[in-house]
Amino acid sequence: MNCIGVLTSGGDAPGMNAAIRAVTRSAIFEGWKVYGIHRGWAGLISEELEEFTTNSVSNIIQRGGTILKTARCDEFRTEEGRTKAFEVLKKYDVDALVVIGGDGSLSGAYQLATEHDIPVIGIPGTIDNDLYGTDKTIGYDTALNTIVECVDKIRDTATSHDRIFFVEVMGRDAGFLAQNSAIAAGAEAAIIPEENTELDQLADFIGRGIRKSKNSSIVIVSEKDGGAMHYAERVKKEYPQYDVRVSILGHLQRGGKPSAADRILASRMGVAAVRALKEGQRNVMIGSIQDRIINLPICRAIKEDKVMENDVLHCLTILSL
Ligand code: F6P
Repeated sequence: MNCIGVLTSGGDAPGMNAAIRAVTRSAIFEGWKVYGIHRGWAGLISEELEEFTTNSVSNIIQRGGTILKTARCDEFRTEEGRTKAFEVLKKYDVDALVVIGGDGSLSGAYQLATEHDIPVIGIPGTIDNDLYGTDKTIGYDTALNTIVECVDKIRDTATSHDRIFFVEVMGRDAGFLAQNSAIAAGAEAAIIPEENTELDQLADFIGRGIRKSKNSSIVIVSEKDGGAMHYAERVKKEYPQYDVRVSILGHLQRGGKPSAADRILASRMGVAAVRALKEGQRNVMIGSIQDRIINLPICRAIKEDKVMENDVLHCLTILSL
């Protein structure tokens, strides 16, 4: 191993910079050359490679977003696109690639590695926390804390006006952000893709808030299937007596300084990615299980479903009584 490339792809996540820093510095520590690849797969295809020194990654551990920038790249979804990307890696004598991103980015990395002779290491970076093989993904902790801070604020106005708020959060097809932010913010309910929520259940959720003689409720809704607006409209129609409002948190959930937990996770994973390459591993994702850093085949991480523990589901039901 003489030279590696590192890129971030898909949605940015707080802590990605700490991972870029860790990969870069560990590789330089081993005496390898490192290319930072700008704008994810799109930048790889268009040869946006920059040789990194330890200084290139100075003063970034505390910054949100990704200094390498990121993109969603349709061209890389095609075989021709991946072949172009591989040719660029060969042209720059890159021996292996470290990809920091979510499910879609790691699926792309896996396809590249199976079609061409290039080892890839995946680092799970997404606020959605939806990757199998790791308890937490980089960015999840920060996003969760951001959501909780917002919901605490929404609670103040909800209580003052006796209103029911449907707060929409990100997570794509996964409800980890919604369910756990609902627990942490003391919300009356969470509507998540992992469970079917019918209108009569919704009335029950809202009733919980009212029964507590608080005259207000907060329901956290995953963005999937019409999100908060969909449920708010249904409740408004069926229960016109309630004063309903919607708050869609949107992309503010992805920004901001990474939490200490995300910085540490990203740093440990970045170092582990280089160690994995040094040990001759290929096509694995770095994970953290019960605070132990592990490797598992990328194909398992992208194919298997991450299950939400039952107690996490039941906790909210009990505590919102
Ligand atoms: O995967 C991260 C994520 O923030 C999801 O939670 C969300 O569905 C999606 O990205 C939004 O993507 P974009 O920023 O491209 O609209």
